Amino acid sequence: MEYEEVKKGLAGVIVDNTAIASTDSNGTLIYRGYAAEELAEKSTFEEVAYLVVYGHLPNKKELLKFSNLLNRNSRVPQNINKIMKLLPRNTPAIDVLRSMVSLMPLNGDENDGKLLEIAAKIPRIISDWHRLSKGSAPLRGTAETYAERFYYLLTGNKSKSDARLLEELLILYMEHEFNASTFTLRVAASTLTDPQAAMTAALAAIKGPLHGGANAEILDYLLPMKSTPEARKYVDGKLRKKEKIMGFGHRIYKNKDPRAQYLKERLRGLAAAKGAEKLYNIAVAIEDEMWKMKNIPANMDFYAAICMYLMKIDSSLNTPIFAASRSFGWTAHYLEQVSNNKLIRPSSRYIGMLGMHL
Ligand code: COA
Repeated sequence: MEYEEVKKGLAGVIVDNTAIASTDSNGTLIYRGYAAEELAEKSTFEEVAYLVVYGHLPNKKELLKFSNLLNRNSRVPQNINKIMKLLPRNTPAIDVLRSMVSLMPLNGDENDGKLLEIAAKIPRIISDWHRLSKGSAPLRGTAETYAERFYYLLTGNKSKSDARLLEELLILYMEHEFNASTFTLRVAASTLTDPQAAMTAALAAIKGPLHGGANAEILDYLLPMKSTPEARKYVDGKLRKKEKIMGFGHRIYKNKDPRAQYLKERLRGLAAAKGAEKLYNIAVAIEDEMWKMKNIPANMDFYAAICMYLMKIDSSLNTPIFAASRSFGWTAHYLEQVSNNKLIRPSSRYIGMLGMHL
């Protein structure tokens, strides 16, 4: 039988149309027609989430309704908190999030209602678990916006400027067309499983270190570094051993990740404000050396992890924070998949034995 060439990792394979987001190798990221960086700079999280999910920017009434929905649904049911209390305290936050999302009792009838109900609860699940795992009482934020509530829930602080930077970061994390977790969600959705199950599948995929898990590992090598020569030596050593450095490389962005460059600029200001210029210089030295030695650009996780560190966010929460934002992208993709569905079921080339008999 004739088979087509196998495209490992589906690299370069266009598996479906989408009207949600577009990327290209030169470093373009578009959400529903708008550049993601412009949205990060000028819009609120709620505006962009609405745009990604419903395809157009909200008017005042739509925005108010959407913001209220997120606020109203942010509470975690008591039974879910009770289950969390039974878990070993060293359970990774992303595992807790995935498991609690899969068990969450939901009220909504429509798919979008259910998906948004889950998305609205994710910040509290993350925060409640984090506090519980440290033996502290849960925090209860009363701020009006998603980002301010989330920032408070993560840190216990009310800094408006840090909450705004978190908001920009969350906007940039929100959507990325057919990345691994979104594609996983679409495969699940294509079986016509329910939104909650599809969201759980996406949360399983985002955990991996080649995807969302990368942002939790960056500080492990970065923070112990004392100087820029040390940073360059580290890169050279890893590349010589053919080991990967987390926070670098991307399937699509071979020259530049626009989100990383946006956050790099924001980090420069943040580092200056917090007296962390040395850390910024070390990060830039790593980026420069990676580019010089192997032409591999920094990806968003690299600068996001450092920004979150300077905002005093515990790095064990980095991947769940990414998932919190991406859950709005997943919502859009679930709705798009089921609105024009075909079961996703590719073929494989069999390379095992033939003609065996007992
Ligand atoms: N550090 C060192 N080398 C890297 C690298 C990294 N972070 N990312 C890619 N490379 C190298 C590979 O070793 C390979 O080199 P080779 O051709 O000499 O064998 C080459 O670049 C191509 O890498 P490959 O893994 O095949 O590319 P991909 O498109 O399949 O991978 C990623 C994309 C994201 C999986 C990959 O870049 C990676 O593992 N990055 C680290 C994890 C990470 O930061 N993930 C977050 C992504 S937003």
